[in-house]
Amino acid sequence: MSLEVVNRVPELRAAVSRARASGLRIGLVPTMGALHAGHGALLDRARAECGCVVVSIFVNPLQFNRKDDYERYARTLPADLAFCRERGADLVFTPELEEIYPREQRVYVDAPSLSEHLCGMHRPGHFRCVATVVMKLFNMVQPDCAYFGEKDAQQLAIIQAMVADLNIPIEIVPVPTVRESDGLAISSRNVRLDHEQRQSATALHRALCAAAASIASGGGVADAREAACKILKDEPSLQVEYLEIVDPESMRPVDEIRGSVRIAGAVWAGETRLIDNLLQRSAQ
Ligand code: PAJ
Repeated sequence: MSLEVVNRVPELRAAVSRARASGLRIGLVPTMGALHAGHGALLDRARAECGCVVVSIFVNPLQFNRKDDYERYARTLPADLAFCRERGADLVFTPELEEIYPREQRVYVDAPSLSEHLCGMHRPGHFRCVATVVMKLFNMVQPDCAYFGEKDAQQLAIIQAMVADLNIPIEIVPVPTVRESDGLAISSRNVRLDHEQRQSATALHRALCAAAASIASGGGVADAREAACKILKDEPSLQVEYLEIVDPESMRPVDEIRGSVRIAGAVWAGETRLIDNLLQRSAQ
C-alpha cells in the first residue's frame, strides 16, 4: 500500500474510516517528527500489530517551555516522509498549527499528581500540554491502539493514566528505549551535541546503570543515588537537573525500594537537555 499524507482532519477521518470499514486495526504513532530509530521501533511495533499504521507529525508549541527550543526543534518533513514510507506506514498526518489549535485552547487534560516530580517539576505546564495534544490526536484519529516510548516514562505514565481515568477506549502500547551502541538513548536533540558533549552524554546512561546495579545487589535509595551521582560528578560538562528513584506508576520518589522502581535522570549538556530512565526490580 502506498503512503497517504494528509494535513486536514476531515481527510484524516475519511482515510481512517476507509481502513476501518475494511476491517483493519488502526494504530497511531504520535511524533513531533525528526524521526529516528527510536520512532522507528514504535512504527515497527505498530506495523506488526495493526493493519493500518497512522503516524502524526506535529511540533506542538504549547508543550515547549522555551521559545528557542521550539524554534530550534529539527523539522525534516521530506526525510520523515521517506522514513515513514520505508517503515511501511499507511497514513501520515502533518497538520498545520491552525488545524490543531483553530482558536485559543480553553479545555486541557491535566494529571497534576503525576506531573509533580521529574520533568514535570522542571517543565511547568509541559505535561498538561502533552496530554491535551495527545487527547486531541486520539479524538482526531480514533485509533484502536497507540504507541509510546519508555524513554519518556513520565509522559507514558500520564497517557496511561489519562486513558484509564477518562475511559478512553484505546490500548496504550509501551515500547522499550532504543539506544546508540554506547548506551545513549536516541533523541532528536542528540544532533545538537558537539563532539565533546556527545562523549560526556553517555554518563547519564552509565549513571542509571550504576544505580540499577546498586539496587540489584540490595542497595537502598541513598546508595543507588550516590552510585549514579558519583558517575555524573566525574563529567563536569554535564549539569544534573534531577536524578530520582520513583514508583513507576505514581512517578513519586520512593523512600524504600520495593518491587519495581524507575531510575530517572535529566542532565544538561550545554544548551541541550537529555533525559533517560531504567526500570529495575528490587533485590528481594
Ligand atoms: P517525540 O519526542 O517525537 O517522540 C515520539 C515518540 O517516540 C514518544 O512516544 C517517545 O517516547 C518515542 N521515542 C523517542 N525517542 C525514543 C527512543 N530512543 N526509544 C524509544 N522511543 C522513543 O514525545 C513526543 O514526541 C511528544 O511529546 C508527543 C507525544 C508527540 C506529543 O506532542
